[in-house]
Formats: sequence, structure tokens, C-alpha cells
Amino acid sequence: MILLGVNIDHCATVRQARYRQAAATAGGAIEPDPVAFALLAEQAGADGITVHLREDRRHIQERDVWRLRESIATRLNFEMACAPAMVEFALRLRPESICLVPESREEVTTEGGLDVVKNRDRVKACIDAMNAAGIATSLFIDPVAAQIELGAQLGAPWIELHTGAYANAYHGAGRAAEFDRLVSGTRLGLQCGLTVNAGHGINYVNIAEVRTLPGLHELNIGHSIVSRALFTGVGEAVREMKARMNP
Ligand code: PXP
Repeated sequence: MILLGVNIDHCATVRQARYRQAAATAGGAIEPDPVAFALLAEQAGADGITVHLREDRRHIQERDVWRLRESIATRLNFEMACAPAMVEFALRLRPESICLVPESREEVTTEGGLDVVKNRDRVKACIDAMNAAGIATSLFIDPVAAQIELGAQLGAPWIELHTGAYANAYHGAGRAAEFDRLVSGTRLGLQCGLTVNAGHGINYVNIAEVRTLPGLHELNIGHSIVSRALFTGVGEAVREMKARMNP
């Protein structure tokens, strides 16, 4: 069984599109509420809830994260930049896991994997702090041997392989090569003793192939589930994805 982490960032994106400036004074419902989305996703079988508290707070807000911490019944996976302020926040929040992601203000969403090799010392400091607190660290990295091996060496228990390049190549000539990179990355991660997750750009179509990656533990899926939920409701969107992940 591959587990499903539902990333609810884009529910908050829709809310912020309307209420970024005026939430406090709007009166009435500030909708859509990402916490309500998370609870419906859990009821439909989500195995965990993922949020990314970005430096610019463009979608998820701190208050959302604290409300999630109090209300969800599954696991909270907290995506964050490798920065001292976020480490301090995570240690207070105490999510079940964190996922270290690269962050730059210009990108619309997370575009490339974390460069563990280049940021070795900062990444190690984050992993050490989380290990000491009993919080599992996942590293969101491209399927590149040097990144995977160093991640394991630094003591991270999990990696999340970035499936974005594969998803982008899905309808073109590069798809097979990108999928092979993911297969090799997954195998190497397992050989290094890591729990291997994957995420970014996974949808109701490419899941048919992504699910065949050997030994996958969990997929983190956001955009396609939030989009589908507009038409079918949250429960159906989550159930359909889970059925396709584990037919
Ligand atoms: N995993 C990580 C680390 C992410 O940052 C994101 C969001 O960019 C996702 C998974 C989910 O990606 P998507 O919204 O494309 O499903």
C-alpha cells in the first residue's frame, strides 16, 4: 500500500486570492478553509496532511498550521525552508515530520529539489535538531545519486523524490528517461536505508506509472487533488486518487 499525503496549500491559495488583505475585516466566512479541506481529506482516507509555510506566506498562514496541529487525526507533514526561524517554528509545532524544501520568492511553486550537497552544513543542522526532537526529516531532492547518498549520510530518515521533471516530460520524448531516473533514485534510496517518498506534479493520469516505482512509501499530492475537488468534492477526489494509487 502506498500512503497518500494530501497537500492542501492550494486550498489556501484560493482563499488568499480573495482575502489576502482583508481577512480580519471581511466578516462572515473566510473561505475556502484549508483546515476543513484537511478534515474531509482525512475522512476520505488521506494518510497525512502536508502544508508548506512559505517565507512570503503566500498561501498557508501560521494560524492554519496551528489549527491543523490541533484538529487533524492523521500525521502533519510540515514543509519548510532550511532556515533557523523555520527550525524554531517546527520545534514548537512538533509535526510528525518535516520536509526540507528549497524556497525562492519568485517561483510559483517548489521548482527544483533541495541541493543537499551545496547546503550540507545547514541541512545537517536542521536534521540534527529534528532528530533530537524525535521529528522525522524528509529531504525533497531530485533523483540524483550524490544528493540521495549525502542525505542518508547526514542522518535523514526519509527522502521525497521530486517528480516534477518527470511530470513535465510526461507527454514528451523525455518521459522514459525521467522515469528511469526516478526508478534508480528510489532503488538507491532504499539501498541507503531511507524511506522513499515522492511528490510534485502527480495527477490522476501519471499516477498509473508513478505508482509502479519500486518500494515507494508515500506520495504527496496537492494541485491535482485540490483541482479535482472543485468538481467532485474533496472526498471523491481523495478516494479516486487512493484507488488509482493502490488498484
Ligand atoms: N511535495 C513537495 C515537497 C512540494 O513542495 C509540493 C508542492 O509544490 C508537492 C509535493 C505537491 O506538488 P503538487 O501540488 O504538484 O501535487
